[in-house]
Amino acid sequence: MSKNEDSSRSPGETSIDISNMRRSYGENGLGELPADPFTLFQSWLVNAHENPYVVEANAMVLSTVDSSGQPWSRSVLLKGVSEGKSPTLHFYTNYDSAKAQQLGNEPRASLLFPWYPLERQVIVTGSVSKVSREESAAYFHSRPWASQIGAWASAQSTELDSPDTLQEKWREFSERYPEEVPLPDQWGGFALTANTIEFWQGRYSRLHDRARYSRINNSSNEWEITRLYP
Ligand SMILES: Cc1cc2nc3c(=O)[nH]c(=O)nc-3n(C[C@H](O)[C@H](O)[C@H](O)COP(=O)(O)O)c2cc1C
Repeated sequence: MSKNEDSSRSPGETSIDISNMRRSYGENGLGELPADPFTLFQSWLVNAHENPYVVEANAMVLSTVDSSGQPWSRSVLLKGVSEGKSPTLHFYTNYDSAKAQQLGNEPRASLLFPWYPLERQVIVTGSVSKVSREESAAYFHSRPWASQIGAWASAQSTELDSPDTLQEKWREFSERYPEEVPLPDQWGGFALTANTIEFWQGRYSRLHDRARYSRINNSSNEWEITRLYP
């Protein structure tokens, strides 16, 4: 019987003592901070990508709020960073999904990169807008054929009566588009323009190092750096 199938425990009870789960972190802090947060972000992303314990270094937790003010979080993949005066982080999804509807209503979001094996996290906040149809098409067509079919088959975030229905829809679209797959109208990218970027590096004795970059004005890539208590 697997851990998940142990029926002798009551709901909420686990075989591990959650309150005692902690680890001590390393010696090194953030060191000298560059003026441009994206210099540090890119080097941390490379470190995460090269670390064998980090699965999907470009996975990030996207948080949005719905019209009642309820926050929702889910993972998405970072698929590009455009640098320049207003650096943006890009991800792709279904424009009819819950997250896209929430962004349509409140176009501000937070992105969190949980690079735990490196004792690091990065949190980016900012405003979100759709990328151009050309950019979405270019990325869509760079994806494997099966993923392109998957985008057609999934009415993301809506109720699914059975997994077989999804399988059937996938088969239907795979027969309709055996080679070239057009970009679905309801699929594309979002770009988050960063307003703040916070870097967190774990250190021993909970003396973690934490620094937040805040954009000084919207039209320049100039940032104010604030150190924060951890
Ligand atoms: C590691 C990981 C990466 C994911 N990447 C994406 C992604 O890039 N785009 C996407 O739409 N969903 C992605 N998902 C699925 C989302 O987390 C989520 O379930 C889905 O987008 C529906 O979210 P929503 O109903 O809040 O809109 C990913 C899930 C995981 C675990």
